[in-house]
Amino acid sequence: MRRFEVRLAGLRCILIYTFQGMAPRIGSRVFIAPDATVLGDVAIEDDVSIWFGCVMRGDVNAMRIGARSNIQDLSCLHVTNHQWPLVIEEEVSIAHHVMLHGCTIRRGALVGMSTTIMDGAEVGEGCLVAAGSLLKQGFKAPPHTLVAGWPAKVKGELDPGQLALVASVWPRYVRYKEAYFKDGWAMATAPQAAFPEPGFAGGHPYP
Ligand SMILES: CC(C)(COP(=O)(O)OP(=O)(O)OC[C@H]1O[C@@H](n2cnc3c(N)ncnc32)[C@H](O)[C@@H]1OP(=O)(O)O)[C@@H](O)C(=O)NCCC(=O)NCCS
Repeated sequence: MRRFEVRLAGLRCILIYTFQGMAPRIGSRVFIAPDATVLGDVAIEDDVSIWFGCVMRGDVNAMRIGARSNIQDLSCLHVTNHQWPLVIEEEVSIAHHVMLHGCTIRRGALVGMSTTIMDGAEVGEGCLVAAGSLLKQGFKAPPHTLVAGWPAKVKGELDPGQLALVASVWPRYVRYKEAYFKDGWAMATAPQAAFPEPGFAGGHPYP
């Protein structure tokens, strides 16, 4: 049976859904833009911000977003049944219009605009993924490197300017979402639901 919940907050529609008994778990002071869609086995830690038009579909595996990370407008996040969850660690920035599928993004990395990252790929701690890159299935970006291109290659260690860029985006986005709260935008809350263990990470009975 399909279960979902659309809640109205003032005149705004909050698109945070349960799916087969799994509801997103949401930490404190989290901003989820009112038109972002978030469903299923998704764990969102404190001070995360998820911006306008994002889709995060945790329906066949698990998804975790670490504290103080930001997922910018029009990004699309999904997972692969039985194989690839999606892990975003703390203080990560996912820029506008990024496609993330079943991959791992380590602490403090910045993924540039309009990038695609495929199943099993891993972006190391503090990496900079240049705008418009394609990280093919299983690609590994070593920590603190610049990776760029379609398909992406490792360009080398980050220079001081690139390090400064990577370090500047996530705290800025923590401040942005605080400004939205100050302006009266709602903090995100999770719908009421059970949280069956191990969730969809244990596999899903889809064909
Ligand atoms: C990577 C970036 C920061 C440029 O950094 P930079 O210090 O000026 O880098 P350079 O121009 O010296 O380029 C270094 C190498 O990466 C390559 N490169 C840089 N940006 C690239 C891109 N977007 N796509 C493909 N290759 C790229 C350059 O061609 C160069 O390659 P080479 O060493 O083989 O010649 C910039 O292109 C970028 O992608 N910024 C991210 C923007 C973004 O999404 N911001 C989020 C806003 S919140």
